[in-house]
Amino acid sequence: MYSALAGRDLLSITDLSRADIDAVLEAGARAKGGGHLGRPLEGRSVAMIFQRPSNRTRLSFEVAIHRLGGHPIPLFAQEIQMGERESVTDVSRILDRYLDGIVARLTSHRDLVRMAANAHAPVVNAMTDREHPCQVLADLLTVQEVTGELDGVSVAYVGDGNNVCTSWIYAAALCGIDLRMVCPPGYEPPPAVLEAAAVLRGGEAGFLLSHDPGPVLDGAAIVYTDVWASMGQEAEQQRRREDFAHLQVNDALVARAAPGARVMHCLPAHRGEEITDSVLDGPRSIVFDQAENRLWVQQALLALLFAGVAP
Ligand code: CP
Ligand code: NVA
Repeated sequence: MYSALAGRDLLSITDLSRADIDAVLEAGARAKGGGHLGRPLEGRSVAMIFQRPSNRTRLSFEVAIHRLGGHPIPLFAQEIQMGERESVTDVSRILDRYLDGIVARLTSHRDLVRMAANAHAPVVNAMTDREHPCQVLADLLTVQEVTGELDGVSVAYVGDGNNVCTSWIYAAALCGIDLRMVCPPGYEPPPAVLEAAAVLRGGEAGFLLSHDPGPVLDGAAIVYTDVWASMGQEAEQQRRREDFAHLQVNDALVARAAPGARVMHCLPAHRGEEITDSVLDGPRSIVFDQAENRLWVQQALLALLFAGVAP
């Protein structure tokens, strides 16, 4: 059993090495193929805190924790009222007294970092405003399933330079993926993310960032998109609809990628906005495999985080 992840937090993809990522993907693929990851969470309780809505993340983590022998405890914003009823630090200290692990979807990445600093138990990022590392681990497994590898695979990210895009930038840097991104002006990923990824790549940018879909899609094996307005940006929805309209992932846009290119979306999808029904439900779509892989990858991740850690 790979032990380098035991007892650690996963707040950002940058918390992982390439070997860690490979270990998670290998164990995830094994679990998906019917292999057993044991019951490392036997007798353990894991809180799942959601300050934002969720379908996939909540369900896949709850099922994964249960299958590993643990007791998942979902906590929603209105009951825990973190930062209002109690400070993030006090909530973390209390959780740490009762629980063996914390999975948290928090509005603010800073709060997640604060939570991890005040908890001994492993803390897993279930999405913040900055990153969605568990999503991208599942995405990597999905890419590996269809291409057989990660190194050198060309992925065209089409849309907002958001939390999912940031985790993709880091994962691409660690896994040697040929990531190209097309974003409207003003919606590029944060410069600090691009700089940090260049450091991970040994000083080379290693990816293409453009306002023009042409060079980004040219020869791409994967076309990836996400919503134009993320959770918390609902007030900007109309302006974003106008700013992103030319980047809709429709049949014409997909036709500009490599023949046989596959299409990915982390979901939830706003059908008719960033992606059309014909693409999402069409033969190129691997979106629902991608969603399924959340379960296998998170099961693997938790098994590795809790392996060898005394309850
Ligand atoms: N992709 C994803 O995180 O979905 P949910 O918001 O439904 O959890
Ligand atoms: N970027 C989206 C991802 C949803 C899974 C959001 O933050 O809402």
